[in-house]
Amino acid sequence: MFRLSFTTSGESHGRGLTGIIDGIPANLSISAEYINNQLARRQKGYGRGGRMKIESDTVEIMSGIRWGKTMGSPIALFIKNRDWINWEKAMSSDSAFKDSIEPVTKPRPGHADLPGIIKYNQGDIRNILERSSARETAMRVALGSIARRFLEDFNIFIGSFVTSVGNINLDIDTSRLNEDDLIELHKGADVSELRCPDKGVTEKMKHLIDTAKEEGYSLGGRFTTFATGLPVGLGSHIQWNRRLDARLAYAFMGIQAIKAVEIGDGVAISEKPGIEVLDEILPPEKGKTLFDVRRTTNHAGGIEGGMTNSMPVIVKATMKPIPTQRKSLKSIDINTGEPVEAAYERSDVCAIAAASVIGEAMMALVIADAFLEKFGGDSMEEVQRNYSSYIDSIR
Ligand SMILES: Cc1cc2nc3c(=O)[nH]c(=O)nc-3n(C[C@H](O)[C@H](O)[C@H](O)COP(=O)(O)O)c2cc1C
Repeated sequence: MFRLSFTTSGESHGRGLTGIIDGIPANLSISAEYINNQLARRQKGYGRGGRMKIESDTVEIMSGIRWGKTMGSPIALFIKNRDWINWEKAMSSDSAFKDSIEPVTKPRPGHADLPGIIKYNQGDIRNILERSSARETAMRVALGSIARRFLEDFNIFIGSFVTSVGNINLDIDTSRLNEDDLIELHKGADVSELRCPDKGVTEKMKHLIDTAKEEGYSLGGRFTTFATGLPVGLGSHIQWNRRLDARLAYAFMGIQAIKAVEIGDGVAISEKPGIEVLDEILPPEKGKTLFDVRRTTNHAGGIEGGMTNSMPVIVKATMKPIPTQRKSLKSIDINTGEPVEAAYERSDVCAIAAASVIGEAMMALVIADAFLEKFGGDSMEEVQRNYSSYIDSIR
């Protein structure tokens, strides 16, 4: 991140999650209600575990916002753990409860459990799993919602939809979709239990999740995240770490359980000849400027040479099946080395709908950072001036 920075802290069953975001200009209007609406979107999704019923996340704004507006100072947020009362002893900072709580000693394959205890020299896997849990992403969604609110003031919209659960796919050729098409898909996703805009496919996905739940195994999936309304030139070709595609891939790979990230056509682009997948440049209509050049296709996913090219930015992410499942996997007890079944704790069967909302948050944070890198200012008014002056100059 170049102009924004953020960090989170907190354990899955701890007192709560804390997050700080620094670099948001002064005078951005934002409310706790706005953040809570985004948090509620993350909590939905067919196939989620019992935790979601306990969690009804609401944010407390601890600093950086006064009378509905940012002050330019770091913004700190807190999300209380509604289940804390049941975990006060197990997660206490006080050593008094140490001997009354059984340690977790059976690492789950696919989790941070085993490498974590070795690296951090721990005898209780809980000291690893509490932080590696994706519960932390609630705070990322909260912080991302501030970035989203910032981008809204420049008519930039970020959305997402789910395209697969296990082997059930929604076939969508994103290279042919314009901004309106993408927003329609997002709206369809927002009213679907799985963020899948096709009702028939959603039913098939739900059926697969029901079967998985019954039989005790978990599922992964894929989702597409997009941004519309972007000006040309966010990101840069001049240095590897300023490329917007690189920054987005880093951010998406930083979401727990995401195992592949594609920009635009992604993997599929390699299977076709160049003539079919390069987005040809057509002259602007009479009286229009270079800024209005639109490509007929968007195989590149809105990024060329690491910079936005004014087409929608498209990122596709692949999530592995949830590592905790009822049908136990082989493991060992870390104290004895004897074979055992891996630990099981209340868990999601499939969390692809939530992952897609988390993807939106990460995209908002990366794009807001790139936007501020280009049009940076201390107040929203200053950023607006810088942005308008660039738009005027290219028009
Ligand atoms: C939204 C979301 C919810 C998740 N829920 C669970 C869960 O309930 N149980 C579980 O074992 N893993 C869950 N995971 C996946 C683990 O957090 C993740 O696989 C683990 O931290 C190991 O990281 P890795 O898969 O990137 O190697 C979830 C991930 C996401 C993004």
